[in-house]
This record gives sequence, structure tokens and C-alpha cells, in this order.
Amino acid sequence: MTIGIGLLGLGTVGAGVAAILASPEGRHPLVGHLALRRVAVRDLGRPRPIEIPSELLTTSPEAVIDDPAVEIVVEVMGGLEPARSLILRAIAAGKSVVTANKAVIARYGEEIAAAAAERGVYVLIEAAVGGGIPIIEPLKQSLGGNRIQRVSGIINGTTNYILSRMADEGAAYADVLADAQRLGYAEADPAADVQGGDAADKIAILAGLAYGGPVERSAIATEGIDRLDARDVAYAAQLGFVVKLLAVAERVDSSEVAAPLALDVRVHPTLLPRQHPLAGVHGVNNAILVEGDPVGRVMFYGPGAGAGPTASAVVADILNIAGIRQMGGADAGLDPLLAASSWCRCVLVDGSATHHRNYVRLLTRDEAGVIGKIGTGFGQAGVSIQSIIQFEGQGGGAEIVVITHEVQESRFRAALATIEALAEVDGVAACLRTL
Ligand code: NAP
Ligand code: HSE
Repeated sequence: MTIGIGLLGLGTVGAGVAAILASPEGRHPLVGHLALRRVAVRDLGRPRPIEIPSELLTTSPEAVIDDPAVEIVVEVMGGLEPARSLILRAIAAGKSVVTANKAVIARYGEEIAAAAAERGVYVLIEAAVGGGIPIIEPLKQSLGGNRIQRVSGIINGTTNYILSRMADEGAAYADVLADAQRLGYAEADPAADVQGGDAADKIAILAGLAYGGPVERSAIATEGIDRLDARDVAYAAQLGFVVKLLAVAERVDSSEVAAPLALDVRVHPTLLPRQHPLAGVHGVNNAILVEGDPVGRVMFYGPGAGAGPTASAVVADILNIAGIRQMGGADAGLDPLLAASSWCRCVLVDGSATHHRNYVRLLTRDEAGVIGKIGTGFGQAGVSIQSIIQFEGQGGGAEIVVITHEVQESRFRAALATIEALAEVDGVAACLRTL
């Protein structure tokens, strides 16, 4: 039985999917049953890395969805609209959807899941997080017996590629970002990558799956790498840390049954001790560390962006749906482990109540007693210092880097405000979370 595939988009990911469908040899036999029926693009005249018969191409995504020969709709065009409306249109037409669009799922996942459940179709999203890494299905299925305590990870390939090359080669930020765009890692608007929004979309999705309840995307505290100073990456390295853009979702209330479930969900550059399992994740690779009871720590690692890895995840989802269709499963109702489902309500806590270690770089006068005053300022506020080091500053001043022990965020911020007001302190140049 042949299964008709309609592609919305033939860019980096779409072309990768078309390439897999065009060469099924050596892959799962079901791949050979998938036939590309129609493909929507914006510009028919644009050169493509893969040859597609011209009669399959159209500039009308609606024509792809409405084509009776298309049974599974693959949305890889990106953006919020018309992508959201097209996904809903496919669902209304009784067609299962595969999408890599984390921006849409993070914002409209609930609406889309409800529509899909009502119509009895699947919307699968493996490619939306972690590129080629299988993480969505493991969270939905393989780890379903666990009570998840924390999901943390490096889930943006572009920023990890930039940070790795800045740290390893001292490469300039703008040059490396241009390389990431050329290699197809970056979003259409790379601000989503470097400002942390893409990672926030992805952690919203992972948290929703791990904890069983949708997470309010707009409430996720988000900081990117666009304001990260190369000096802090270098100082961190001297102190035995690696800087990574980390996304974290963790239970704040550790009681076994809490309703609603309180979560701390955030994205920010973070200093990781060099021996931390996520510190060795370099280049475009992603890694997601899941901590659950009773499994303990499980880490998923692999290429987080790019045509091949992302297409691998898209095709995995297509195969899941194709397999069910081949079994005649459409009439048996939805597989509850494959379909999205919620069983809990999550609320995001205010980050000021959470506890962390911190890295601070202060610009100060280079004179006797400054380190003592800073130490006293932190000490009087009840913030314990793990280390304090002076580096030579620019223009005759000093740079003092402090790493604190774990402290409540609000207490730390109050102490920092006091220290910033000292006459000897010219300003706070950087403040980063530290694991
Ligand atoms: P892309 O290279 O910019 O490709 C987008 C494709 O969609 C292009 O073929 C474009 O047509 C087509 N398109 C856009 N708007 C359209 C419209 N209104 N009507 C018809 N066609 C339209 O993007 P991408 O990198 O493949 O990313 C696609 C999706 O996958 C995004 O949601 C992205 O976040 C996600 N994703 C990407 C990666 C990655 O590594 N790139 C990884 C995971 C997930 P033209 O070619 O004619 O312009
Ligand atoms: N722009 C994204 C990234 C693509 O760099 O991770 C993969 O989702």
C-alpha cells in the first residue's frame, strides 16, 4: 500500500525529507511505501538541492492539503502563520500531520492537540526538538513510568555551534553566525536562536511532555547569547567552566502529588563545570539530560539541527503514522502513547524564589580594600562566596569575578544592588547562572 505525502516547504528540512523519500534503499521497508505527491514552496523558480518533478510543485499550501492523494501532511515551512492555520486545515480534512515547527507547537500546541484528538488524527513533532535526537517519543513512551524531576539541555544547535567556535578558535560571533546560517542550522530569523526564543519554544514542548501539562510559553524567563561577552567565556574557561546556552525545566515542589504542578522553566547562558555531562557537547550537537524517578539520569545526544538530522526525525514520525495506517489502525482510535495528551496542570514559579550559583564580573577601581568591601557586601546579605578573583581590567581599573555558592535569586539580586552602589564599583559587567 502506498501512502501519499504532501510537503509544505522544500527548504533545508523539506529537501532533506524529499531526499530520504527519493532513496528508500537500505532504510526501513516502509520508506519505500511513501510517495511524495505534492510540494508547496514560495518561489517556484528557486534552485533546489534536490530535483522534484515540476508538476508536484505548487505555491498553494492549501492545494497540497486538499489533494486527495495526500494522506500525511508534513509542515516544514516554519513561522507562526499560515503554518498554524494550515496544520488546523489538514487536521480538519482528517489528515495526520508531521511538523518540525516548534514555534507553532510551543504556542498553539494545546489548540492543535485538541483539534487532532477530536478529528482522530495524529500531529507528531519529533523534529521540533533536538534535530535528529529522538527525545519526543522517549518522553511520551519509553520514560512514561517515571516521575520526572528535571529536564535540562543544550537544545539550540546554532548557539552551541557559535559558543563552541568562539571558545575553541576565538572566532568572531558575527562570522560564526553567518556560517551557521549557511549550513542551514539557524532559523529564518536567527534572532530566535541567539536571543534564546528557539530554546524557550523547545523547553516549553519538553516540559509539556515530561510533566503532562501545557506550559505558558510567554512566562518562560529567556536570555540568549547575544549579549554574552567573549571575556566571560575566557574567564569561565580559566576557572574550569564552559559556557553553554542551557534550557531547564524542573519541579519546584518535590512532593509526589501536587496540583497544580509548580515548575521552574528557563533559558540562559550558564557556566557548567568542565566535568558536567553537558559541558562536552560541542558544535551543532544537542544533548538533553532527563532526571526521573526511578530511572535516574538519562542523556540523549546528537546533531541538533541541519537537513539530514532533522529529516531523519521527520521521517521517523511519518513512519509511525504510516505503520498505524498499514495496520488499518485508523478505525481503532488513537494510540494514547503516540498522540499528545495532558493529565496535569503546570504553573511556572517566579524565578526570584529559586536557588542557584552565580558568576558575576564587576568593574571596579584597582585599589586596596575593594575585594574586602565586595566580600563584606555579599557576606552581610547572607550570600556565601565560593571564589573571588581579580583580573586586569581595561583602562587602569580591575575586573573582579565572583562565584557564589547556591543562594536564593532574590537574596543574590539584593546583595548585588548593594555592591553595585559602592563608590569603588563602576558597574556589573556580567551576571551568569552557574551549575
Ligand atoms: P527554510 O529553509 O527557510 O524553508 C522553508 C520552506 O518553506 C521553503 O521551501 C519556503 O519556500 C517554504 N515556504 C515558506 N513559507 C511559505 C508559504 N507561505 N507558502 C509556501 N511555501 C512556503 O526553513 P527550514 O530550515 O527548512 O525550517 C523549516 C521548519 O523546520 C521551521 O519550523 C524550523 O524551525 C524547523 N526546524 C528547522 C531545523 C533546521 O535545522 N533547519 C531543525 C529543526 C526544525 P521557498 O523555498 O520557495 O522560499
Ligand atoms: N535553529 C535551530 C537550532 C534548528 O539551531 O537548533 C533546530 O531546531
